[in-house]
Amino acid sequence: MSRDIVPERPPVYHLKEVARVCGIMGYVGPREAAPIIMDGLRRLEYRGYDSAGVAVANGSINVRKAEGKIVRLAELLDEEPLKGTVGIGHTRWATHGVPSDLNAHPHTDPTGEFVVVHNGIIENFQTLREELEAGGAVLTSQTDTEILAHLIAEEYEGDLATAVRNAVERAEGAYALVVMTKREPRKIVAVRKISPLVIGLGEGETYLASDIPALLHQTREFIIIEDDELVTLTEEGAVVETIGGEPVDRQAIHVAWDAEQAEKGGFEHFMLKEIHEQPTVITETLGGRLGEDGTTWLEDVEFDDEFAQGLETVWITACGTAYHAGLVGREVFQRVLRLPTMVEYAHEMRYADPMVKPGDLTIAISQSGETADTLAAARLAVERGSRMLALTNVVGSTLSRYADDVLYTRAGPEISVASTKAYLAMLIGQYLLALRLGVARGSIDRQRAADLALGLARLPAQVESILEDESSIANAARAIVDADDIYFIGRGLDYAVAMEGSLKLKEISYLHSEAMPAGELKHGTLALITEDVPVVVVVTQRSTYDKTISAVQEVKARGGKIIAVAYDSDTEIDKFADLVLRIPETDDLLAPVNAAVPLQLLAYHVAKLRDHDIDQPRNLAKSVTVE
Ligand code: G6P
Repeated sequence: MSRDIVPERPPVYHLKEVARVCGIMGYVGPREAAPIIMDGLRRLEYRGYDSAGVAVANGSINVRKAEGKIVRLAELLDEEPLKGTVGIGHTRWATHGVPSDLNAHPHTDPTGEFVVVHNGIIENFQTLREELEAGGAVLTSQTDTEILAHLIAEEYEGDLATAVRNAVERAEGAYALVVMTKREPRKIVAVRKISPLVIGLGEGETYLASDIPALLHQTREFIIIEDDELVTLTEEGAVVETIGGEPVDRQAIHVAWDAEQAEKGGFEHFMLKEIHEQPTVITETLGGRLGEDGTTWLEDVEFDDEFAQGLETVWITACGTAYHAGLVGREVFQRVLRLPTMVEYAHEMRYADPMVKPGDLTIAISQSGETADTLAAARLAVERGSRMLALTNVVGSTLSRYADDVLYTRAGPEISVASTKAYLAMLIGQYLLALRLGVARGSIDRQRAADLALGLARLPAQVESILEDESSIANAARAIVDADDIYFIGRGLDYAVAMEGSLKLKEISYLHSEAMPAGELKHGTLALITEDVPVVVVVTQRSTYDKTISAVQEVKARGGKIIAVAYDSDTEIDKFADLVLRIPETDDLLAPVNAAVPLQLLAYHVAKLRDHDIDQPRNLAKSVTVE
């Protein structure tokens, strides 16, 4: 039996760390709770969500929740107000189950005495669900959260903190879990593992939120809850303990940020924040899906081994950054599955009369799941009898509803128009799919599958280490900021990454930039290389290393400036490159994940030096829903 790999991740919640999917609020004090909670939820709106809810304790526990925007919940509260001074609230960004009134948080146990909100993913959700159902429990939603309400009620013997402790011992995964019970009505208990949780301290009142911006207008005094800690809130303040019950002496901190800085988690732009979220995003995308021997558990991917074995052709279709993720996917699928894999721009594929046939697999990649061209190409593939798998970041998106199989990337809401973390999550999703299909087809041996699984599990820490060396990338940005033209080259997987690096630079710096396979340079573009033209070369693939270096030498001979993205272990590259952006060594197949990160930061720093509107570049939209 394969063991699930839970990749390492940084254990400490730094103030700079990520705001994650879903917003959480809690309040206990002398004032009416519902308006305070609603106000906090509105301040978390920038993170994106698809339903919202509030629960207030007042003799009994009362819940109001609604799919859609907070204004719908506000209308509901106007019609049926919630009275009481202790409460919790939530904005949900769907992970298990589509956005709906029923799946919205808070969730209660069958007696309605225990109520929970939750941010994160419970990985052993299916097993727990089956256990509860075997014991006669009736679950009304499709969420992993409702299960937690049942578990806590089951464990309750007079002390809420103990019940929460015992319940989370049975759950695996990531969570910030916040609980109230009618039995102890002036108290909120919360526990954190991975998903962030902060406590705000007021005069005779205490707040709780998933993120500082929700509370900044109420207080500037915060206690940061760390992994595996449990906190009990009353109006007198917050008592922090370890999950095992040891007391924790946590000092409050004073936060001086303004609200705008706070939304960005202290980063100057959403793009930079999202780049820094990537180690966590990789962990999330892999979470509960990958075994140490390369076995995968992909919850909404429903094709069977027989389908995988009969497969003759894989199609990938997408636009923009998602298409560039598909370029990586093509190489990966071809190598792992030994199957012809086509990658097509969706707006081309739909008019190209593609030779898609019954029994093919078409993977439509889209962050939003709403890009009009991608939807149309996916539909065309389905009409021609192909099975269609959506690789998307948005649960319940049009693409996901239309697909036979769905793999959610779990990158969380992406706010910057220039996509970063969603791209990395798309790469991870495709590695998981390649393992799923490759193992079923027997086109990858077990040892190789296990090696790739280990390589994937190491990526979060590796990306973290690249992010720690941002200063050398900022230096490289200074070297190219005044260029008029810039070229990106690479071979195979490096070419795929070069395409995305070039797009990032274009999108936000407005520099003219082009990417091409390294071997193509000499067939035309070389005529444009002069000493004023920088060339970024991605050179990770060992099988083509020398060939790529030949192209580099062609550039050098014309006086061009070389910026290389290369492995830490590559000592050769220093002979040719003017600047080297280093990345940790991986299996070459996985190198695109690490190699993309310095190029994202390079684009960011060039745009910053040019003083551009980084999060909202001119002429571009986050999601293009017109054809
Ligand atoms: C727009 C965005 C790009 C994105 C593309 C595809 O052009 O500006 O960043 O890559 O759409 O979006 P999707 O949501 O389908 O991934």
